[in-house]
Amino acid sequence: MRLASLRRSTPFRLAVSFTLLFILTVVASGGVMYHVLRDGLNAELDTTLADTFHVVSSTYAPNDIEDLITTLNNYANLEGPDDGIYSLVGSDGRKLAGNFKPPALPEGVYTVPASDIGLKGKSMFRIQVGKLGADTLVVGQSYSEMNSLLRTVLISLVWAAGLAVIGAVGGGVYLASRAQRRLDGVTRTMLEVSNGRLDSRIPLSNTNDDLDHVFAQINDALARLAGLVEGMRQVSADIAHELKTPLNRLRLTLEEVRRVHKEQDEVALLLEEAHEESDQINATFEALLRISQIEAGARRLRFHAVDLRDILLLVDDVYTEVAEDSGQRLTVEDCSPILVNGDKELLVQMLVNIVENAITHCPPLTSINVSLRQDQDHAVLTVADTGPGIPTAEREMVFRRLYRLDKSRTTPGSGLGLSLVKAIADLHAAHIRVEDNHPGLKISVRLQAL
Ligand SMILES: Nc1ncnc2c1ncn2[C@@H]1O[C@H](COP(=O)(O)OP(=O)(O)OP(=O)(O)O)[C@@H](O)[C@H]1O
Ligand SMILES: [Mg+2]
Repeated sequence: MRLASLRRSTPFRLAVSFTLLFILTVVASGGVMYHVLRDGLNAELDTTLADTFHVVSSTYAPNDIEDLITTLNNYANLEGPDDGIYSLVGSDGRKLAGNFKPPALPEGVYTVPASDIGLKGKSMFRIQVGKLGADTLVVGQSYSEMNSLLRTVLISLVWAAGLAVIGAVGGGVYLASRAQRRLDGVTRTMLEVSNGRLDSRIPLSNTNDDLDHVFAQINDALARLAGLVEGMRQVSADIAHELKTPLNRLRLTLEEVRRVHKEQDEVALLLEEAHEESDQINATFEALLRISQIEAGARRLRFHAVDLRDILLLVDDVYTEVAEDSGQRLTVEDCSPILVNGDKELLVQMLVNIVENAITHCPPLTSINVSLRQDQDHAVLTVADTGPGIPTAEREMVFRRLYRLDKSRTTPGSGLGLSLVKAIADLHAAHIRVEDNHPGLKISVRLQAL
Protein backbone atom coordinates (compact mmCIF):
# COMPACT_ATOMS: atom_id res chain seq x y z
CA MET A 1 0.00 0.00 0.00
CA ARG A 2 1.38 3.43 -0.94
CA LEU A 3 2.10 6.03 1.76
CA ALA A 4 -0.65 8.37 0.52
CA SER A 5 -3.35 5.69 0.70
CA LEU A 6 -1.90 4.48 4.03
CA ARG A 7 -2.37 8.01 5.41
CA ARG A 8 -6.02 7.96 4.33
CA SER A 9 -6.64 4.55 5.92
CA THR A 10 -8.78 4.81 9.08
CA PRO A 11 -7.26 1.74 10.87
CA PHE A 12 -3.74 3.06 10.19
CA ARG A 13 -4.63 6.54 11.47
CA LEU A 14 -6.25 5.06 14.58
CA ALA A 15 -3.20 2.87 15.22
CA VAL A 16 -0.82 5.84 14.84
CA SER A 17 -2.99 8.05 17.11
CA PHE A 18 -3.21 5.37 19.80
CA THR A 19 0.51 4.59 19.58
CA LEU A 20 1.35 8.30 19.99
CA LEU A 21 -1.11 8.59 22.89
CA PHE A 22 0.40 5.47 24.45
CA ILE A 23 3.96 6.83 24.11
CA LEU A 24 2.87 10.15 25.67
CA THR A 25 1.18 8.33 28.57
CA VAL A 26 4.25 6.14 29.20
CA VAL A 27 6.60 9.16 29.12
CA ALA A 28 4.30 11.30 31.32
CA SER A 29 3.70 8.56 33.91
CA GLY A 30 7.45 7.72 33.95
CA GLY A 31 8.24 11.42 34.52
CA VAL A 32 5.70 11.70 37.34
CA MET A 33 7.03 8.51 38.97
CA TYR A 34 10.62 9.75 38.75
CA HIS A 35 9.75 13.11 40.34
CA VAL A 36 7.70 11.60 43.16
CA LEU A 37 10.54 9.19 43.93
CA ARG A 38 13.16 12.00 43.92
CA ASP A 39 11.04 14.19 46.22
CA GLY A 40 10.50 11.24 48.58
CA LEU A 41 14.24 10.48 48.69
CA ASN A 42 15.03 14.17 49.33
CA ALA A 43 12.57 14.27 52.24
CA GLU A 44 14.05 11.03 53.59
CA LEU A 45 17.57 12.53 53.40
CA ASP A 46 16.44 15.58 55.38
CA THR A 47 14.82 13.37 58.05
CA THR A 48 17.98 11.24 58.35
CA LEU A 49 20.06 14.42 58.66
CA ALA A 50 17.76 15.83 61.37
CA ASP A 51 17.93 12.51 63.28
CA THR A 52 21.73 12.42 63.07
CA PHE A 53 21.94 16.05 64.23
CA HIS A 54 19.65 15.22 67.13
CA VAL A 55 21.64 12.11 68.19
CA VAL A 56 25.00 13.88 67.96
CA SER A 57 23.84 17.02 69.77
CA SER A 58 22.38 14.92 72.64
CA THR A 59 25.95 14.27 73.84
CA TYR A 60 26.51 18.00 74.25
CA ALA A 61 26.72 19.55 77.70
CA PRO A 62 27.36 23.32 78.02
CA ASN A 63 30.37 22.94 80.33
CA ASP A 64 31.84 19.79 78.88
CA ILE A 65 32.17 19.38 75.15
CA GLU A 66 34.76 16.65 75.33
CA ASP A 67 32.07 13.94 74.99
CA LEU A 68 30.74 15.61 71.87
CA ILE A 69 34.22 15.94 70.39
CA THR A 70 34.90 12.23 71.04
CA THR A 71 31.58 11.20 69.57
CA LEU A 72 32.12 13.36 66.50
CA ASN A 73 35.62 12.06 65.92
CA ASN A 74 34.36 8.49 66.32
CA TYR A 75 31.63 9.05 63.74
CA ALA A 76 34.06 10.80 61.43
CA ASN A 77 36.57 7.96 61.67
CA LEU A 78 33.95 5.25 61.24
CA GLU A 79 32.39 6.72 58.09
CA GLY A 80 33.99 8.05 54.92
CA PRO A 81 32.92 11.45 53.59
CA ASP A 82 30.47 9.76 51.15
CA ASP A 83 28.53 8.23 54.09
CA GLY A 84 28.46 11.18 56.47
CA ILE A 85 30.37 14.37 57.34
CA TYR A 86 30.57 15.97 60.75
CA SER A 87 32.12 19.13 62.10
CA LEU A 88 32.17 21.16 65.33
CA VAL A 89 33.42 24.72 65.03
CA GLY A 90 34.21 26.86 68.04
CA SER A 91 33.01 30.43 68.51
CA ASP A 92 36.43 31.65 67.30
CA GLY A 93 35.96 29.79 63.96
CA ARG A 94 38.43 27.01 64.85
CA LYS A 95 37.53 23.42 63.90
CA LEU A 96 37.18 21.48 67.18
CA ALA A 97 36.26 18.05 65.78
CA GLY A 98 35.03 16.25 62.64
CA ASN A 99 36.16 15.36 59.14
CA PHE A 100 35.61 18.63 57.26
CA LYS A 101 35.75 22.40 57.65
CA PRO A 102 32.34 23.93 56.96
CA PRO A 103 31.87 27.46 55.63
CA ALA A 104 30.43 30.03 58.06
CA LEU A 105 26.70 29.68 57.56
CA PRO A 106 23.73 30.67 59.74
CA GLU A 107 21.54 27.90 61.22
CA GLY A 108 19.58 25.94 58.59
CA VAL A 109 19.68 23.17 55.99
CA TYR A 110 21.69 23.68 52.76
CA THR A 111 22.69 21.89 49.58
CA VAL A 112 26.35 22.62 48.79
CA PRO A 113 28.95 21.27 46.34
CA ALA A 114 31.91 19.30 47.79
CA SER A 115 34.35 22.06 46.76
CA ASP A 116 32.52 24.62 48.97
CA ILE A 117 33.15 22.58 52.13
CA GLY A 118 36.76 21.71 51.41
CA LEU A 119 36.09 18.17 50.12
CA LYS A 120 37.30 16.48 46.94
CA GLY A 121 35.00 15.24 44.18
CA LYS A 122 32.05 16.67 42.38
CA SER A 123 29.18 15.31 44.45
CA MET A 124 26.69 17.56 46.21
CA PHE A 125 26.11 17.46 49.94
CA ARG A 126 23.12 18.21 52.12
CA ILE A 127 24.21 19.81 55.39
CA GLN A 128 22.39 20.90 58.54
CA VAL A 129 23.95 23.75 60.53
CA GLY A 130 22.90 24.30 64.17
CA LYS A 131 24.19 26.13 67.26
CA LEU A 132 25.23 24.28 70.39
CA GLY A 133 25.90 27.05 72.88
CA ALA A 134 28.59 29.22 71.31
CA ASP A 135 29.78 26.42 69.04
CA THR A 136 28.39 25.39 65.67
CA LEU A 137 27.60 21.78 64.84
CA VAL A 138 27.35 20.79 61.19
CA VAL A 139 26.30 17.33 60.00
CA GLY A 140 25.91 16.38 56.36
CA GLN A 141 25.39 13.60 53.86
CA SER A 142 26.37 13.09 50.22
CA TYR A 143 23.78 12.90 47.42
CA SER A 144 25.87 10.27 45.61
CA GLU A 145 23.92 7.25 46.96
CA MET A 146 20.56 8.85 46.16
CA ASN A 147 21.75 9.86 42.69
CA SER A 148 22.95 6.36 41.83
CA LEU A 149 19.57 4.96 42.97
CA LEU A 150 17.75 7.53 40.82
CA ARG A 151 20.00 6.69 37.84
CA THR A 152 19.11 2.98 38.18
CA VAL A 153 15.40 3.87 38.33
CA LEU A 154 15.74 6.12 35.26
CA ILE A 155 17.50 3.42 33.22
CA SER A 156 14.78 0.90 34.21
CA LEU A 157 12.09 3.39 33.19
CA VAL A 158 13.72 4.04 29.79
CA TRP A 159 13.97 0.28 29.11
CA ALA A 160 10.38 -0.30 30.19
CA ALA A 161 9.16 2.62 28.04
CA GLY A 162 11.20 1.38 25.04
CA LEU A 163 9.76 -2.14 25.31
CA ALA A 164 6.24 -0.76 25.77
CA VAL A 165 6.62 1.46 22.67
CA ILE A 166 7.93 -1.47 20.57
CA GLY A 167 4.93 -3.49 21.79
CA ALA A 168 2.51 -0.65 21.00
CA VAL A 169 3.93 -0.05 17.50
CA GLY A 170 4.03 -3.79 16.67
CA GLY A 171 0.51 -4.35 18.04
CA GLY A 172 -0.77 -1.22 16.26
CA VAL A 173 0.66 -2.28 12.90
CA TYR A 174 -0.74 -5.81 13.30
CA LEU A 175 -4.24 -4.66 14.32
CA ALA A 176 -4.31 -1.87 11.69
CA SER A 177 -3.27 -4.18 8.85
CA ARG A 178 -5.83 -6.77 9.96
CA ALA A 179 -8.64 -4.18 10.00
CA GLN A 180 -7.39 -2.71 6.70
CA ARG A 181 -7.43 -6.15 5.04
CA ARG A 182 -11.06 -6.56 6.04
CA LEU A 183 -11.98 -3.09 4.76
CA ASP A 184 -10.13 -3.83 1.51
CA GLY A 185 -12.37 -6.89 1.17
CA VAL A 186 -15.45 -4.61 1.35
CA THR A 187 -14.00 -2.14 -1.18
CA ARG A 188 -13.10 -4.97 -3.58
CA THR A 189 -16.56 -6.51 -3.31
CA MET A 190 -18.37 -3.21 -3.81
CA LEU A 191 -16.20 -2.46 -6.85
CA GLU A 192 -17.02 -5.85 -8.35
CA VAL A 193 -20.73 -5.39 -7.65
CA SER A 194 -20.74 -1.95 -9.27
CA ASN A 195 -18.98 -3.52 -12.26
CA GLY A 196 -21.91 -5.91 -12.61
CA ARG A 197 -20.62 -8.96 -10.74
CA LEU A 198 -23.63 -9.24 -8.45
CA ASP A 199 -22.50 -12.65 -7.14
CA SER A 200 -19.49 -11.09 -5.37
CA ARG A 201 -19.63 -11.20 -1.54
CA ILE A 202 -17.61 -9.65 1.30
CA PRO A 203 -15.31 -12.30 2.87
CA LEU A 204 -16.10 -12.95 6.55
CA SER A 205 -13.37 -13.57 9.16
CA ASN A 206 -15.50 -16.17 11.04
CA THR A 207 -14.67 -14.54 14.38
CA ASN A 208 -18.35 -13.64 14.59
CA ASP A 209 -17.48 -10.10 15.72
CA ASP A 210 -19.47 -6.90 15.06
CA LEU A 211 -17.78 -6.32 11.68
CA ASP A 212 -18.70 -9.86 10.60
CA HIS A 213 -22.31 -9.08 11.55
CA VAL A 214 -22.36 -5.89 9.48
CA PHE A 215 -20.65 -7.63 6.53
CA ALA A 216 -23.09 -10.54 6.76
CA GLN A 217 -26.00 -8.08 6.58
CA ILE A 218 -24.46 -6.34 3.55
CA ASN A 219 -23.98 -9.78 1.95
CA ASP A 220 -27.65 -10.63 2.63
CA ALA A 221 -28.71 -7.33 1.04
CA LEU A 222 -26.47 -8.06 -1.97
CA ALA A 223 -27.95 -11.56 -2.28
CA ARG A 224 -31.48 -10.11 -2.24
CA LEU A 225 -30.50 -7.48 -4.79
CA ALA A 226 -28.87 -10.09 -7.03
CA GLY A 227 -32.01 -12.24 -6.73
CA LEU A 228 -34.26 -9.35 -7.74
CA VAL A 229 -32.07 -8.32 -10.67
CA GLU A 230 -31.75 -11.90 -11.84
CA GLY A 231 -35.53 -12.31 -11.52
CA MET A 232 -36.19 -9.22 -13.62
CA ARG A 233 -33.63 -10.25 -16.18
CA GLN A 234 -35.12 -13.72 -16.33
CA VAL A 235 -38.66 -12.39 -16.76
CA SER A 236 -37.72 -10.07 -19.64
CA ALA A 237 -35.63 -12.82 -21.23
CA ASP A 238 -38.52 -15.27 -20.83
CA ILE A 239 -41.02 -12.83 -22.35
CA ALA A 240 -38.69 -12.17 -25.27
CA HIS A 241 -38.16 -15.91 -25.75
CA GLU A 242 -41.83 -16.73 -25.51
CA LEU A 243 -42.80 -14.04 -28.01
CA LYS A 244 -40.02 -14.79 -30.44
CA THR A 245 -41.62 -17.90 -31.94
CA PRO A 246 -45.16 -16.48 -32.43
CA LEU A 247 -43.63 -13.27 -33.83
CA ASN A 248 -41.55 -15.25 -36.27
CA ARG A 249 -44.60 -17.26 -37.22
CA LEU A 250 -46.57 -14.04 -37.77
CA ARG A 251 -43.79 -12.69 -39.94
CA LEU A 252 -43.68 -15.87 -42.03
CA THR A 253 -47.45 -15.84 -42.35
CA LEU A 254 -47.38 -12.23 -43.54
CA GLU A 255 -44.69 -13.11 -46.04
CA GLU A 256 -46.71 -16.06 -47.27
CA VAL A 257 -49.86 -13.96 -47.63
CA ARG A 258 -47.90 -11.34 -49.53
CA ARG A 259 -46.51 -14.03 -51.85
CA VAL A 260 -49.91 -15.54 -52.50
CA HIS A 261 -51.55 -12.14 -52.83
CA LYS A 262 -49.50 -10.88 -55.75
CA GLU A 263 -51.61 -7.97 -56.93
CA GLN A 264 -50.13 -4.56 -56.23
CA ASP A 265 -53.26 -3.25 -54.66
CA GLU A 266 -53.79 -1.50 -51.34
CA VAL A 267 -53.96 -4.79 -49.41
CA ALA A 268 -50.50 -5.69 -50.68
CA LEU A 269 -49.13 -2.34 -49.52
CA LEU A 270 -50.70 -2.78 -46.09
CA LEU A 271 -49.25 -6.26 -45.90
CA GLU A 272 -45.85 -4.83 -46.80
CA GLU A 273 -46.19 -2.34 -43.93
CA ALA A 274 -47.28 -5.07 -41.52
CA HIS A 275 -44.28 -7.12 -42.62
CA GLU A 276 -41.89 -4.23 -41.93
CA GLU A 277 -43.56 -3.63 -38.60
CA SER A 278 -43.08 -7.26 -37.61
CA ASP A 279 -39.42 -6.97 -38.65
CA GLN A 280 -39.04 -4.01 -36.33
CA ILE A 281 -40.74 -5.90 -33.45
CA ASN A 282 -38.40 -8.82 -34.08
CA ALA A 283 -35.36 -6.54 -34.06
CA THR A 284 -36.48 -5.00 -30.76
CA PHE A 285 -36.86 -8.40 -29.14
CA GLU A 286 -33.52 -9.53 -30.51
CA ALA A 287 -31.87 -6.43 -29.05
CA LEU A 288 -33.59 -6.84 -25.65
CA LEU A 289 -32.47 -10.46 -25.49
CA ARG A 290 -28.94 -9.52 -26.47
CA ILE A 291 -28.74 -6.85 -23.76
CA SER A 292 -29.97 -9.34 -21.11
CA GLN A 293 -27.40 -11.88 -22.23
CA ILE A 294 -24.57 -9.33 -22.09
CA GLU A 295 -25.70 -8.11 -18.66
CA ALA A 296 -25.63 -11.71 -17.38
CA GLY A 297 -21.83 -11.40 -17.77
CA ALA A 298 -21.10 -14.87 -19.18
CA ARG A 299 -19.26 -13.34 -22.13
CA ARG A 300 -16.56 -12.12 -19.79
CA LEU A 301 -15.18 -15.66 -20.03
CA ARG A 302 -14.39 -15.02 -23.70
CA PHE A 303 -12.29 -11.91 -23.02
CA HIS A 304 -8.91 -11.72 -24.71
CA ALA A 305 -6.46 -9.00 -25.83
CA VAL A 306 -8.16 -6.82 -28.46
CA ASP A 307 -6.48 -4.03 -30.44
CA LEU A 308 -8.90 -1.09 -30.50
CA ARG A 309 -7.14 0.31 -33.59
CA ASP A 310 -8.36 -2.74 -35.59
CA ILE A 311 -11.91 -1.90 -34.56
CA LEU A 312 -11.51 1.68 -35.74
CA LEU A 313 -10.14 0.50 -39.10
CA LEU A 314 -13.09 -1.89 -39.48
CA VAL A 315 -15.57 0.92 -38.84
CA ASP A 316 -13.63 3.13 -41.28
CA ASP A 317 -13.92 0.41 -43.98
CA VAL A 318 -17.65 -0.09 -43.65
CA TYR A 319 -19.12 3.23 -42.52
CA THR A 320 -17.22 5.88 -44.53
CA GLU A 321 -19.32 4.99 -47.54
CA VAL A 322 -22.54 4.65 -45.55
CA ALA A 323 -22.01 8.19 -44.22
CA GLU A 324 -21.22 9.46 -47.71
CA ASP A 325 -24.49 7.97 -48.96
CA SER A 326 -26.34 10.05 -46.37
CA GLY A 327 -24.40 13.16 -47.40
CA GLN A 328 -22.19 13.17 -44.28
CA ARG A 329 -18.45 13.01 -43.82
CA LEU A 330 -16.97 10.35 -41.57
CA THR A 331 -13.29 10.67 -40.65
CA VAL A 332 -11.47 8.03 -38.64
CA GLU A 333 -8.23 9.42 -37.20
CA ASP A 334 -5.18 7.25 -37.54
CA CYS A 335 -3.74 6.14 -34.22
CA SER A 336 -1.28 3.72 -32.66
CA PRO A 337 -2.49 0.30 -31.50
CA ILE A 338 -3.92 0.11 -27.97
CA LEU A 339 -4.72 -3.28 -26.45
CA VAL A 340 -7.59 -3.87 -24.04
CA ASN A 341 -8.95 -7.03 -22.48
CA GLY A 342 -12.37 -7.62 -23.99
CA ASP A 343 -14.76 -9.26 -26.44
CA LYS A 344 -13.91 -8.02 -29.93
CA GLU A 345 -17.33 -8.66 -31.45
CA LEU A 346 -19.05 -6.70 -28.67
CA LEU A 347 -16.55 -3.84 -28.84
CA VAL A 348 -17.15 -3.56 -32.61
CA GLN A 349 -20.90 -3.55 -31.93
CA MET A 350 -20.45 -0.79 -29.34
CA LEU A 351 -18.56 1.53 -31.71
CA VAL A 352 -20.89 0.69 -34.62
CA ASN A 353 -23.96 1.62 -32.54
CA ILE A 354 -22.50 5.02 -31.64
CA VAL A 355 -21.39 5.72 -35.23
CA GLU A 356 -24.74 4.53 -36.65
CA ASN A 357 -26.53 6.89 -34.27
CA ALA A 358 -24.49 9.81 -35.57
CA ILE A 359 -25.35 8.80 -39.15
CA THR A 360 -29.05 8.20 -38.37
CA HIS A 361 -29.77 11.13 -36.07
CA CYS A 362 -27.70 13.84 -37.77
CA PRO A 363 -28.69 15.71 -40.99
CA PRO A 364 -26.67 15.71 -44.23
CA LEU A 365 -23.40 17.73 -44.25
CA THR A 366 -22.65 16.66 -40.68
CA SER A 367 -19.03 15.79 -39.91
CA ILE A 368 -18.45 12.69 -37.81
CA ASN A 369 -15.05 12.12 -36.28
CA VAL A 370 -13.88 8.86 -34.70
CA SER A 371 -10.64 8.83 -32.70
CA LEU A 372 -8.67 6.72 -30.25
CA ARG A 373 -6.05 7.94 -27.79
CA GLN A 374 -4.11 6.68 -24.81
CA ASP A 375 -4.68 8.52 -21.52
CA GLN A 376 -2.20 7.19 -18.95
CA ASP A 377 -3.23 3.53 -18.46
CA HIS A 378 -6.56 3.97 -20.24
CA ALA A 379 -7.75 3.90 -23.84
CA VAL A 380 -10.30 6.57 -24.82
CA LEU A 381 -12.53 5.98 -27.84
CA THR A 382 -14.36 9.11 -29.01
CA VAL A 383 -17.10 9.67 -31.59
CA ALA A 384 -17.89 13.35 -32.13
CA ASP A 385 -20.44 14.77 -34.57
CA THR A 386 -21.61 18.26 -35.51
CA GLY A 387 -25.31 17.33 -35.54
CA PRO A 388 -28.19 18.48 -33.29
CA GLY A 389 -26.77 16.88 -30.11
CA ILE A 390 -28.74 15.72 -27.05
CA PRO A 391 -30.04 18.23 -24.43
CA THR A 392 -28.12 18.02 -21.12
CA ALA A 393 -31.16 16.79 -19.18
CA GLU A 394 -31.58 13.80 -21.50
CA ARG A 395 -27.93 12.75 -21.76
CA GLU A 396 -28.25 10.09 -19.05
CA MET A 397 -31.75 8.98 -20.09
CA VAL A 398 -30.74 7.91 -23.61
CA PHE A 399 -29.02 4.89 -22.06
CA ARG A 400 -32.34 3.61 -20.68
CA ARG A 401 -34.00 0.86 -22.63
CA LEU A 402 -36.39 2.04 -25.36
CA TYR A 403 -35.67 5.74 -24.64
CA ARG A 404 -35.63 8.00 -27.71
CA LEU A 405 -35.70 11.78 -28.05
CA ASP A 406 -39.08 13.12 -29.22
CA LYS A 407 -37.59 14.38 -32.46
CA SER A 408 -36.32 10.85 -33.29
CA ARG A 409 -39.73 9.21 -33.09
CA THR A 410 -40.09 9.35 -36.89
CA THR A 411 -36.71 7.76 -37.64
CA PRO A 412 -36.54 3.96 -37.63
CA GLY A 413 -35.09 2.38 -34.49
CA SER A 414 -36.17 1.08 -31.10
CA GLY A 415 -34.15 3.12 -28.58
CA LEU A 416 -31.99 0.16 -27.64
CA GLY A 417 -28.75 1.03 -29.43
CA LEU A 418 -27.27 3.04 -26.55
CA SER A 419 -28.63 0.57 -23.93
CA LEU A 420 -26.56 -2.07 -25.70
CA VAL A 421 -23.57 0.32 -25.71
CA LYS A 422 -24.01 0.77 -21.94
CA ALA A 423 -24.31 -2.98 -21.29
CA ILE A 424 -21.13 -3.63 -23.32
CA ALA A 425 -19.28 -0.80 -21.54
CA ASP A 426 -20.37 -2.13 -18.12
CA LEU A 427 -19.22 -5.62 -19.06
CA HIS A 428 -15.78 -4.15 -19.82
CA ALA A 429 -15.82 -1.94 -16.68
CA ALA A 430 -15.60 1.04 -19.06
CA HIS A 431 -16.84 4.55 -18.36
CA ILE A 432 -19.01 6.43 -20.88
CA ARG A 433 -19.10 10.24 -21.12
CA VAL A 434 -21.66 12.17 -23.12
CA GLU A 435 -20.72 15.80 -23.80
CA ASP A 436 -21.65 18.76 -25.91
CA ASN A 437 -19.44 19.00 -29.04
CA HIS A 438 -20.39 22.69 -29.63
CA PRO A 439 -22.28 21.93 -31.80
CA GLY A 440 -23.22 18.27 -31.79
CA LEU A 441 -22.60 15.31 -29.61
CA LYS A 442 -19.39 13.79 -28.28
CA ILE A 443 -19.48 10.29 -26.77
CA SER A 444 -16.26 8.95 -25.19
CA VAL A 445 -15.70 5.45 -23.83
CA ARG A 446 -12.79 5.03 -21.41
CA LEU A 447 -11.42 1.51 -21.10
CA GLN A 448 -8.60 0.08 -19.02
CA ALA A 449 -5.65 -0.54 -21.38
CA LEU A 450 -3.49 -3.66 -21.09
N1 LIG B 1 -25.39 11.40 -32.39
C1 LIG B 1 -26.62 11.74 -31.97
N2 LIG B 1 -27.12 12.96 -32.20
C2 LIG B 1 -28.35 13.31 -31.74
N3 LIG B 1 -29.16 12.48 -31.05
C3 LIG B 1 -28.71 11.25 -30.78
C4 LIG B 1 -27.42 10.81 -31.22
N4 LIG B 1 -27.25 9.55 -30.77
C5 LIG B 1 -28.38 9.20 -30.12
N5 LIG B 1 -29.26 10.21 -30.12
C6 LIG B 1 -30.60 10.22 -29.48
O1 LIG B 1 -30.59 9.21 -28.48
C7 LIG B 1 -31.69 8.32 -28.67
C8 LIG B 1 -31.34 6.93 -28.20
O2 LIG B 1 -30.38 6.33 -29.04
P1 LIG B 1 -30.38 4.77 -29.24
O3 LIG B 1 -29.23 4.41 -30.08
O4 LIG B 1 -30.47 4.15 -27.92
O5 LIG B 1 -31.74 4.48 -29.99
P2 LIG B 1 -32.10 4.69 -31.50
O6 LIG B 1 -30.90 5.05 -32.28
O7 LIG B 1 -33.23 5.65 -31.55
O8 LIG B 1 -32.61 3.28 -31.89
P3 LIG B 1 -31.76 1.94 -32.18
O9 LIG B 1 -30.33 2.32 -31.94
O10 LIG B 1 -32.25 0.97 -31.22
O11 LIG B 1 -31.99 1.60 -33.57
C9 LIG B 1 -31.97 8.40 -30.14
O12 LIG B 1 -33.32 8.08 -30.41
C10 LIG B 1 -31.69 9.87 -30.46
O13 LIG B 1 -32.80 10.65 -30.14
MG1 LIG C 1 -29.20 3.92 -32.23
